[in-house]
Amino acid sequence: MLYLSFWLLPLLYYVRPGSAWVASNLLMTGPKAYLRYAKSVQMGVQSGVVECKHQFAWDRWNCPDSATLPKGLKRATRETSFVHAISAAGVMHTLARNCSLGDLDSCGCDVSRNGKIGGPGWLWGGCSANVDFGEKISKQYVDSQETGQDPRAAVNLHNNAAGRLAVKATMRRICRCHGMSQSCSVKTCWTQLSDFREIGNYLKIKHSQAQKLNIDKKHMRAGNSAVSQGAIVDALGSVARTELIYLEESPDYCKRNVSLGLYGTEGRECVHHKEGSTQWERRSCRRLCQDCGLRVEERRTEVVSSCNCKFHWCCTVNCEDCARVVVKYACVRRDGADSHGYKRRNRASK
Ligand SMILES: *[C@@H]1O[C@H](CO)[C@@H](O)[C@H](O)[C@H]1NC(C)=O
Ligand SMILES: *[C@@H]1O[C@H](CO)[C@@H](O)[C@H](O)[C@H]1NC(C)=O
Repeated sequence: MLYLSFWLLPLLYYVRPGSAWVASNLLMTGPKAYLRYAKSVQMGVQSGVVECKHQFAWDRWNCPDSATLPKGLKRATRETSFVHAISAAGVMHTLARNCSLGDLDSCGCDVSRNGKIGGPGWLWGGCSANVDFGEKISKQYVDSQETGQDPRAAVNLHNNAAGRLAVKATMRRICRCHGMSQSCSVKTCWTQLSDFREIGNYLKIKHSQAQKLNIDKKHMRAGNSAVSQGAIVDALGSVARTELIYLEESPDYCKRNVSLGLYGTEGRECVHHKEGSTQWERRSCRRLCQDCGLRVEERRTEVVSSCNCKFHWCCTVNCEDCARVVVKYACVRRDGADSHGYKRRNRASK
């Protein structure tokens, strides 16, 4: 058992210590069945975490590692809703792709509809993404983390499911023409998964539109678990399944709060005016520094690299060393300000 625990812990590294999950999974399916998808599941969770960091690179909350650990997931904020959704989506996406690539013995392409009419002028055919298999494994592994009967567990499960729906919502239909000289008298189509980046973009929008769940406090305080379950079910029933939900307002991500695993924005890099940057990136100095009571500091560093290379026949290349100044920007404390920088904050300069 110790040996297995050692193996299982890194799989999903936000496994809650002491959760009944490991034991119940072993009883139901046995260690072999469990380990069969372990590596792929781990890769799926990891792709979710990487995508989270990409999506929030220029936000005050930048998906720190602490956010994907058990401690960081104890709350049910707008941000933890994203972590749950992107993890569940990552596992589903990875497993579905594993199926199409023939990585797994137990699944392949979804060909269940092949030969049937899909719509006017086209038939199902080819290798459709096996999202059902991906969904099943994602449910089995990611959802089994939620063992509680509390509102937070219900909210997490809702957000996991919303993440999986994002994988389906972003799928594309690809078609190919057949018939005499590609006349397209017959067309066959199949579904294809989007790049995971697109699912990240989709869920980032859902994050910005996330809704706070209003649970009837009277019922919750009654202490009767059946009544409070009823209150949760009622509240969840009013939210579309595709939307992310949360229970608590986010803390102030400008500020450092070690007990919450938050580093604050002091020291963070931001984008001033960089070619090809998006408006969201260009506003990052204001968002991360100025609006958090910090000052933007310009940092110049000299980078030496090869340049003016000339090719001499035959066969040498001579280069010069060129120094180039790289300008970066970072948030620093204002002179004389306290650790949060709010004292001398000048609102008039906005
Ligand atoms: C499933 O896909 C992931 C990511 O592409 C890969 O790392 C993993 O090895 C695959 N699983 C198997 C069993 O090949
Ligand atoms: C950190 O957050 C906790 C919980 O919101 C709060 O009680 C505490 O005062 C905060 N600490 C600091 C240093 O802001």
